[in-house]
Amino acid sequence: MSDEACVPINWEVDVVTARQRGRALASELGFSRGDLALIATAISEVARNILEYAGHGEVTVATAQDGRRRGIMVVARDEGPGIADIALAMQDGYSTGKGLGVGLPGSRRLMDDFEIASEVGKGTTVTMRKWVP
Ligand SMILES: Nc1ncnc2c1ncn2[C@@H]1O[C@H](COP(=O)(O)OP(=O)(O)OP(=O)(O)O)[C@@H](O)[C@H]1O
Ligand SMILES: [Mg+2]
Repeated sequence: MSDEACVPINWEVDVVTARQRGRALASELGFSRGDLALIATAISEVARNILEYAGHGEVTVATAQDGRRRGIMVVARDEGPGIADIALAMQDGYSTGKGLGVGLPGSRRLMDDFEIASEVGKGTTVTMRKWVP
């Protein structure tokens, strides 16, 4: 079984590494090929946000267990500027950068569970889970 991995995010290439580690773990867990693509996309989005808005941080992928359910947990953490209005940031099309503003709301749709905690001046943590059907 692929181990839990903590990938530091400092450079563009680290986004690819986080995506690959997450995909490998999800594959071991038995997700379908379609789900692997969705999980990899969600990981890329939160990792890219770290690079773009915080500069650096980390992405952890781990096995999640809830009773008989098993799945993948992804935690993207940074100590960047934080998000002042989380509800706004979660809206489709809202971006303070040059993106389309679909990364966060899209990731929420791709995964089963999605939580975001953020404090201005302290940082942001996004926790996502997807359960093996
Ligand atoms: N880790 C973060 N730290 C600080 N602000 C963030 C972070 N992640 C997202 N945000 C804020 O939330 C907004 C929405 O993020 P989201 O990923 O949905 O869109 P985007 O990054 O602007 O564009 P896209 O992801 O579609 O290229 C961002 O524009 C930014 O203001
Ligand atoms: Mg984004």
